[in-house]
Amino acid sequence: MVCRIGVLASGRGSNLQALIDALKNGEDSYQIEVVISDKEEAQALIRAKKEQIPNIFINPREFSHKEEFEQAILEVIRKHNCNLICLAGFMRILTPSFINKAGVKIVNIHPSLLPAFPGLNAHQQALDYGVKYSGCTVHFVDEGVDSGPIILQAVVPVEVDDTVETLSQRILKEEHKLYPLAIKLIAEGKVKVEGRKVRISGQVSKWASGRVN
Ligand code: GAR
Repeated sequence: MVCRIGVLASGRGSNLQALIDALKNGEDSYQIEVVISDKEEAQALIRAKKEQIPNIFINPREFSHKEEFEQAILEVIRKHNCNLICLAGFMRILTPSFINKAGVKIVNIHPSLLPAFPGLNAHQQALDYGVKYSGCTVHFVDEGVDSGPIILQAVVPVEVDDTVETLSQRILKEEHKLYPLAIKLIAEGKVKVEGRKVRISGQVSKWASGRVN
């Protein structure tokens, strides 16, 4: 059965594009049913429109409570029969109520090696700390901030003279490989959560298992 995903994105949408590009290159384990954004001007919506994927702006300002805004998102997710929600640069923290009511798994991609540097400005946090390696993490979403079970991580070196710009470019290249792979593995039923641990059956390529390129 093909996995039907709903993507939530707030901005540029390059990770959404990576998911679309994988489909264009023959990936057939998932399909993108709908793209939802909390920002009217999000490039992610334009990318979806270009591919004729249903795309919807839900204006958080139209709701007096966050729960109502989230309910509107869930209604769209349900209308499109999604069985997986993918956060792709969705810059809002979802309430525990959303996570409990969703009824489907939610995954997120974050530009650091979690549990290091959760939340906002992950690249700046990594540079300020002076780490020699950073990377990206795909994880299930739980009630905390970037704290759910880790599915895949990829590692990149951090250079002494890196800026947020240079580091984020290096990490983004890995994000664009890691996210489609993680979703494919979930869609193929190869991902099992055992408490905090995630077990993946079958072969996962070396770059996605924490090795430096
Ligand atoms: C990506 O780097 C993603 O990891 C990050 O936002 C960027 C979105 O880029 N997400 C977070 O920081 C979530 N805490 P994109 O819109 O081009 O996919």
